[in-house]
Amino acid sequence: MISLSKLQQYKAEGTRFSCLTCYDATMAKAMEVAQIDTILIGDSLGMTIQGHDSTLPVTVQDMAYHTRAVRRGNQHALIIADLPFMSYSTLPDAIDSARQVMQAGAQMIKIEGGAWLADTVRVLAQGGVPTCVHLGLTPQSVNVFGGYKVQAKTRSAADQLLADCEAVVDAGAVMLLLECVPVQAAKEVQSRFGVPVIGIGAGLHCDGQVLVMQDMLGLNFGKSARFVRNFLQDQFHGQQSENPIVDAFKSYHQAVREGSYPAPEHTFQIEL
Ligand code: KIV
Ligand code: NA
Repeated sequence: MISLSKLQQYKAEGTRFSCLTCYDATMAKAMEVAQIDTILIGDSLGMTIQGHDSTLPVTVQDMAYHTRAVRRGNQHALIIADLPFMSYSTLPDAIDSARQVMQAGAQMIKIEGGAWLADTVRVLAQGGVPTCVHLGLTPQSVNVFGGYKVQAKTRSAADQLLADCEAVVDAGAVMLLLECVPVQAAKEVQSRFGVPVIGIGAGLHCDGQVLVMQDMLGLNFGKSARFVRNFLQDQFHGQQSENPIVDAFKSYHQAVREGSYPAPEHTFQIEL
């Protein structure tokens, strides 16, 4: 069972750790077998599970539902749950939202922003809730950014990122997550702060890496960002014409059509 102190130890000794998003018990169990270190119940479920085109429609109840499912399927990883859009804008909202996902089985919550989250981080820590702060490209602010773009691309923007990290770490954030920032900026954050830093599109110098599960399985159907690698296709050494999961669905469809499935060994037979 991975704890926060284990991840701190990993950072101290330079052992990189893995994180994947997960939303259900079956995949949570698969990640337990694979010994993935940390799981994020991301509000990316607004896209991957619910089919929206942003994370904005996701509710705290949605997050709690998926967190319960994941928790039942996995007893190994440290479990982090996102607080969704506008569910932590005031301190009472943040406390109530964090309570719901923590009671659903999360061991840490993640919120998107910068220095202005310091009070929220402090109040949650006092209440027993460890917080990861997500900086860089923060998808809940897509309408402020005007799209999904690389952040912290200038010296002054990188300095702003460092100042935001410092404010939330001083307030008690136990982890940072950097999305879509240049490798140089992520390296500065990783070396400056004592807390583990998880990256996505932030380069190799982060203490851990995270990917959206559907992305790393090639199930994003043409909406893949530069930082995504399809690890499922890698298992087939380029032999596969399409995604292996899609191939399995096709071959099932074909077998049913032609009557080669179910075969006798899949069938219960009795003399009547
Ligand atoms: O919701 C999510 O999946 C995330 C990751 C992209 C970091 O926040
Ligand atoms: Na998220």
